[in-house]
Amino acid sequence: MKFFVDTAVVSEISELNDYGLLDGVTTNPSLIAKSGRDFKEVIAEICALVEGPVSAEVASMEYDGMVAEGEHLAKIAKNVVIKLPLTLAGLKACRYFTQKGIKTNVTLCFTANQALLAAKAGATYISPFLGRLDDINIDGMDLIRDIREIYDNYGFETQILAASIRSANHVKEAALAGADVATIPPSIIKGLANHVLTDKGLEQFAKDWAATGQTIL
Ligand code: E4P
Repeated sequence: MKFFVDTAVVSEISELNDYGLLDGVTTNPSLIAKSGRDFKEVIAEICALVEGPVSAEVASMEYDGMVAEGEHLAKIAKNVVIKLPLTLAGLKACRYFTQKGIKTNVTLCFTANQALLAAKAGATYISPFLGRLDDINIDGMDLIRDIREIYDNYGFETQILAASIRSANHVKEAALAGADVATIPPSIIKGLANHVLTDKGLEQFAKDWAATGQTIL
């Protein structure tokens, strides 16, 4: 499973990129607002830092506006992916960009039928929002499983990008359910490496090693 980081904070992206853990980046208007920075400037910086796909979301709700904004964003860098909402206008814009060879990420997906439409529109990625479904007592992971089955039934190449991830368990469950990618907040990516027994074991090894009085170098 590929790992994308879900943030617009360049320093966080840079740190994870240095660990070699990043396959791409997703942003959304809320994350851009939280960063307090200029949208296009941030996207350009991220694209210069990360080789993989970087999702930049249109703000327009209308087809013409989405096309104009998406074309503008696509010029920032080769690895920009145009993020479009799962509406009829967004699906039409998705078809437009796909035909032009520009990658797309169709976002705010909450049903398998929406995911089916995105695949038919040629989306590169579909983003089902797990956490927001869990928030309303619907199992987000069932959605991933349903989309996986439908895409496999018909050989759709659209990649399932598990989004709105809120916990380490979401990452594991999404991987088990067959998501192609998970976009994950930075703190959760780093937390995946943690285990109390790893810390305890390391502490003991360090103590025993010190008692040997040896050095490796
Ligand atoms: C990613 O593409 C989504 O915009 C993001 O994962 C949404 O996460 P949230 O529901 O925690 O805001």
